Amino acid sequence: MTANILVIGSGGREHSLAWALAGSPGVQTVWVAPGNGGMVSPGTEGSAPIAVAPVAADDGTGILRLCRDKAVTLVVIGPEAPLAAGLADHLRGHGLTVFGPGADGARLEASKTWAKQLMTQAGVPTAPGWVVTSRTEAMDLLHRLGRPPVVKADGLAAGKGVTVANTMAEAEAAVDRAFAGAFGRAGEKLVLEERLEGPEVSVLALCDGRDLVLLPPAQDHKRIGEGDTGANTGGMGAYAPVPFLDQQDLEHMRSAIFLPVLAALRERGIDYRGVLYGGMMLTATGPTVIEFNCRFGDPECQCVLPLLEGNLAAVLQACALGRLGEAPMLSTRGSRASACVVAAAEGYPGPVRRGDLITDTGSVNSGGMVFYAGVGSTATGQLRTAGGRVLASVGLGDNFDQAFDQAYNRLGQIHYTGKTARSDIGHQVRRR
Ligand code: AMP
Ligand code: GLY
Repeated sequence: MTANILVIGSGGREHSLAWALAGSPGVQTVWVAPGNGGMVSPGTEGSAPIAVAPVAADDGTGILRLCRDKAVTLVVIGPEAPLAAGLADHLRGHGLTVFGPGADGARLEASKTWAKQLMTQAGVPTAPGWVVTSRTEAMDLLHRLGRPPVVKADGLAAGKGVTVANTMAEAEAAVDRAFAGAFGRAGEKLVLEERLEGPEVSVLALCDGRDLVLLPPAQDHKRIGEGDTGANTGGMGAYAPVPFLDQQDLEHMRSAIFLPVLAALRERGIDYRGVLYGGMMLTATGPTVIEFNCRFGDPECQCVLPLLEGNLAAVLQACALGRLGEAPMLSTRGSRASACVVAAAEGYPGPVRRGDLITDTGSVNSGGMVFYAGVGSTATGQLRTAGGRVLASVGLGDNFDQAFDQAYNRLGQIHYTGKTARSDIGHQVRRR
């Protein structure tokens, strides 16, 4: 393929996508809109240039114009908001080839009540749950249950819509918050569901509407504090693959969870071409879905893509065209391990410090990779902090100790005031 690719979004996930696509054979230029200054690359031998264009993800007309100006042949949409808003539909309607579901398929993430119904009808293992549309209904249900459930706002709530209640009082408070408007319209309906126990893994499938390929599973670290304590965040680090899942486990997830969901979508007339991200809890009775997302995970994407060998651009294009069977296979780098550590700005996940100068004392030979997220550029091209999660440092190794050493060494070469990172990412798989 000879391609100009446009990636929509501006975070670390999109930087890693742009990097992996730029390294795919046959790619001429990767554009990112709106992107960030840390992503820009002149290209090297074996890697196409990466350029950014100041067009917002919600500017459908501007994106269409950019696609035409730059002769874009494939659009890859990163975040959930433009997917849920129908950007993929808009671009497909104008003849573009798009990796990412339409607004119909994005409901899997944008409406937890809809997703729950679909999973239940498809016979997919998921926590038992109930939909409520008023405070009275919710309180009645709580009293009938007699134990605190997990309380989830129906709509997109920037990762803040879920309360894993430890007591009835916490569950009642979460219900009150939602019906008092804390999540706007996203909280007008709630799912109350049984609390599950077990390790949590993220499994990402690349789908072409009928068929799919699973990527190596990853484990994300959602809490801000060491030892998995403190407030929930978008993700402070990740590792992949997950050593306690083998090929047989993945085959089981493929046949019992992912393929039935894709089939259930198709029965509803939904041609799902994009990432199906299963957030799974490995319970005593087997893997159980706690959520689906309609996009790559962040930071799972930064962690998983460097493990892949093969032509990612050709595979995403084949998914977008509904022809995954014709795509070259992606393989994973044997038993290699990938480690990803996020550095945030001071204050994250609350209001953050901004505008601090970022310096990098590493060199081209430092090893590891840095994917930028919440950064802005000065007039002279220097990077400054401009958001919650600032960057992700990724290391690869033959084992997790090597991979984390590389990720943490590289992270140590990047400096800014207020740099905030966990030192224990991957504690489950590190020996030192
Ligand atoms: P979500 O926004 O759906 O990813 O939920 C946020 C977090 O809440 C998940 O990553 C889980 O750790 C937790 N969670 C969600 N649903 C459940 C459940 N049914 N049981 C236990 N924990 C859950
Ligand atoms: N890392 C969790 C997510 O992307 O939803």
